[in-house]
Amino acid sequence: MKVTVVGAGAVGATTADNIARAALAEELVILDIKEGIAEGKAQDMMQTAALLGFDTRITGSTNDYKKTAGSDVVVITSGLPRKPGMTREELIGVNAGIVKGVAENILQNSPDAIIIVVSNPMDTMTYLALQSTGLPKNRIIGMGGTLDSARFKYQLSQHLGASPADLNAVVVGGHGDTTMIPLIRFATWNSVPVTKFLSEDQQKQIVADTMVGGATLTKLIGTSAWYAPGAASAALVKSILRDEKKLFTCSVSLDGEYGQKDICLGVPVIIGKTGWEKILDFGLNEEEQALFSKSADAVRNMNDVLKTL
Ligand code: 2OP
Repeated sequence: MKVTVVGAGAVGATTADNIARAALAEELVILDIKEGIAEGKAQDMMQTAALLGFDTRITGSTNDYKKTAGSDVVVITSGLPRKPGMTREELIGVNAGIVKGVAENILQNSPDAIIIVVSNPMDTMTYLALQSTGLPKNRIIGMGGTLDSARFKYQLSQHLGASPADLNAVVVGGHGDTTMIPLIRFATWNSVPVTKFLSEDQQKQIVADTMVGGATLTKLIGTSAWYAPGAASAALVKSILRDEKKLFTCSVSLDGEYGQKDICLGVPVIIGKTGWEKILDFGLNEEEQALFSKSADAVRNMNDVLKTL
């Protein structure tokens, strides 16, 4: 198995590190446009192989897409990260050009690859990757909801005093501070609804803190987060390469599911060897559906900006 990670910034490098540590692929290529950074980080990671005991061959390259040829999975993390006070949406102008170019180069060299999009604004970049490659929709996966759902579980764990691993919780909708929808009604603690243990106020707080999870970190760190984004991306790669058929929230092309069409938005999907294999449409109530439609409107407005670039 061969995996390429495009972008050797913090998110790309952490994704690659997680893939290597879990020995998910025989070959791992890290690519970056900046001279030397991918080669350097690849060497640094390879120097952990003797210590950690993995046998993945990691190589870095400055923008030579031939080195990525024949990849089974490609993770696109390229583009600018947000700075404190910025929304993910403000990155569209710069990142759209970058992601389009990357997706086209990837397609030329790895026509059978499954593509995971991490770059922001993630739902719009996923939509753009789908449009610009023309690949079957199941092979384009936006990562955001997987990360947001992990952050939701973190927030729940803090209030419940629970292990995050014992929690089941999903965030659907867009990967934006105001467009994501943490579905607390469906969240469970080892199959018991979490709403049984939390006051209304606590529930509101958890949902609000989840929605600004990324922004909170950006403010603290001074740039966008990478540990959880990297772990979330690697979890998707693992589910594809090992055909795990795990359920993750990902941004995928909707064709009537959740009442939406011609848009990529976060919904629960089964991830396996052919990409996203099935959407789980588990029936939102009226209030949740209204939030989902509002989220779709906001993401659609952002997608319309692509036409003006
Ligand atoms: C985040 O939420 C990188 O968008 C990503 O941290």
